[in-house]
Amino acid sequence: MTTPRDEEAPAAMTGDAWTAGDAYDAYMGRWSRRLAREFVAWLKPGPALHWLDVGCGTGALTVAVCEGCAPASVLGCDPSEAFVAHARGAIRDPRASFVTADAGNLPARDGGYDWIVSSLVLNFVPEPERAVHGMRQLLRAGGAVAACVWDYAEGMEFLRRFWDEAIALDPGAVALDEGRRSPLSRSDALDALFRAAGFRRVETVALEIPTEFGDFDDYWRPFLAGTGPAPAYVAALDAKARDALRSRLERRLGARGKGRLRLRARAWAVRGA
Ligand SMILES: C[S@@+](CC[C@H](N)C(=O)[O-])C[C@H]1O[C@@H](n2cnc3c(N)ncnc32)[C@H](O)[C@@H]1O
Repeated sequence: MTTPRDEEAPAAMTGDAWTAGDAYDAYMGRWSRRLAREFVAWLKPGPALHWLDVGCGTGALTVAVCEGCAPASVLGCDPSEAFVAHARGAIRDPRASFVTADAGNLPARDGGYDWIVSSLVLNFVPEPERAVHGMRQLLRAGGAVAACVWDYAEGMEFLRRFWDEAIALDPGAVALDEGRRSPLSRSDALDALFRAAGFRRVETVALEIPTEFGDFDDYWRPFLAGTGPAPAYVAALDAKARDALRSRLERRLGARGKGRLRLRARAWAVRGA
């Protein structure tokens, strides 16, 4: 399922302006940290290598690299100054450092990087082909680029369920649904992107993590915090529409009372060498 670019809503409308590190952590960071561990485990990298984490956000992937890959260095970069400041304040590992930069203007390293990685970012980058090509230029000989993106159209259940119910109440919300706005959230699209960027050996894999919520409030509360496309949509609703969406989701998720909610979240990962 793809949406032509000219039908996509601009970032200012979609809430893709990433600003509040604490809100992001409660909404998505708790899951992106788990995904980051699965992602780096799939890469099976050697130790003492130099890494660049593109779109590092609050640092989920940078931490996973520090904890799981014994790196020589990890440079995290993100266009959001607020996220970079949050990551700097929270991550004290001497091998990690952070800089404000976007995927169109990545920081180079003398001698190149061994790994350039990016988690949950490529679908937000305006020119992903150019971005992946740019990453390839910054590798040392023998280095590799890898990325992962949530499967918004199907396997990222907690968001899929959110947008399905939002669209049932408000058909106009379809323009904001990441499942339609993110054609890169599929393995064939990621494979094609990396081949177009010049990689000859390309592999993709599905990575799945459990997303468990203590009760319906634990699921719903992060949607009220404004950071990210779905919370930005909720913030723009009036109180009546917000209550209607909340009640419908609670009913459809079968989440009345204090029961735990167990959903799955799938991402697609790609690597090119
Ligand atoms: C869903 S968050 C993922 C953050 C982090 N990688 C993680 O796994 O938690 C998306 C990130 O992409 C960043 N981003 C948006 N547009 C970007 C661009 N053009 N280049 C690089 N990063 C971008 C945002 O600032 C945000 O931090």
